[in-house]
Amino acid sequence: MRPWRRDRALPPPGDPATMEEVRRRTGESAAAAPGAAAEPDGALPPGAHRHGDELHLEAHAHPHGGPPADGRPVIGIIGAGAVGTALGVALHRAGWQVGAVASRDPARRERFRSLVPGSRAFPEAAAILDECHLAIVAVPDDAIGPLAATLRLYSGQAIVHTSGLHGADVLAPALAAGTSGGSFHPLVAFADLDRALAALPGATVAIEGDEGLIDLLAEMATSIGATPVRLAPGSKAAYHAAAVLAAGGLTALLDVVAAVAAPTGLDEPGALAVYGPLAAQALANARALGTGPALTGPAVRGDAGTVAAHVPAVAAAGDEALAVFRALGLRQVTLAEARRGLAPEAAARLRAAFTRLA
Ligand SMILES: NC(=O)c1ccc[n+]([C@@H]2O[C@H](COP(=O)([O-])OP(=O)(O)OC[C@H]3O[C@@H](n4cnc5c(N)ncnc54)[C@H](OP(=O)(O)O)[C@@H]3O)[C@@H](O)[C@H]2O)c1
Repeated sequence: MRPWRRDRALPPPGDPATMEEVRRRTGESAAAAPGAAAEPDGALPPGAHRHGDELHLEAHAHPHGGPPADGRPVIGIIGAGAVGTALGVALHRAGWQVGAVASRDPARRERFRSLVPGSRAFPEAAAILDECHLAIVAVPDDAIGPLAATLRLYSGQAIVHTSGLHGADVLAPALAAGTSGGSFHPLVAFADLDRALAALPGATVAIEGDEGLIDLLAEMATSIGATPVRLAPGSKAAYHAAAVLAAGGLTALLDVVAAVAAPTGLDEPGALAVYGPLAAQALANARALGTGPALTGPAVRGDAGTVAAHVPAVAAAGDEALAVFRALGLRQVTLAEARRGLAPEAAARLRAAFTRLA
């Protein structure tokens, strides 16, 4: 595998040029064939073999002996879940050779093969290493370390995972001399394939790992329309926690919104139709004006009586809903006091109203 080095340093996430860019984009022989899976004795004629789910009746040269003519590595993906499949499709569409996928589930393997023409599908992760130069591990965070312990890269190969939490070091068990590891985390909510593919252009991708790999990962990110950023060492847990708040936290908040609004007769789609535009407006205001100027509601006005009336209505939706309302209410008071000139006495009355027993 050729080294991928470019004379370019990646900026940190908050770099002005990066932010401008983000805004701009929001628009071998058969017997020893690599990856040949063991077949029960006598199950296949002489010379015939399988590459994962694919049957070959005759010996052939290994197709992935070197990098493709464009110099880019052949990519293999471990895990045909939400992220693995979306990245496979996006990278294929961007002209990368996505040569193989590993998934324990036959239906997911088949789906991946149909979405990514030319890819081979394998039930076991280790088979990927005979099929690619760069392996992308897209399995749950807790499974990455144990999975890496079952892999051993050949010299010249690279491996990255897609977790926003772990550093590249979690892949260390798979590394050997002449190999490299990293991470490639797209800041996208992969809830649905088509929506995720539409969201990748304009998203940021957090990249870290061995220096020789960074430029290649940046090229991958750029090729799918995303903006690559490098995280400060030791900041990944904070980076990921913020992402979980922004995606899962916001989704859970909308769930609370629907539960609190239920007595009005709105079902969940109805509540999202009514309150969704308001939430979208709040987001747009915060991005345009900053969180302080964008804040509206009783916390800004010092309307402690209004908050006192809200508390029993929110409590009817359950303890968790009330805990969310209180925690976010107290944060609104802090924000109003710090950035909107809310008087300390008014802030104290609001805090008491938010925390009074329902
Ligand atoms: N979802 C998101 O929005 C998002 C965004 C950015 C990054 N990420 C990160 O991307 C990674 C994958 O997340 P995902 O959402 O794609 O998960 P997912 O949809 O649950 O898919 C995970 C894949 O890994 C395989 N897998 C599960 N447990 C495994 C194990 N013990 N050993 C080997 N393979 C296993 C699954 O099963 P089969 O092998 O049976 O197919 C599946 O194909 C995670 O690190 C996550 O933090 C997720």
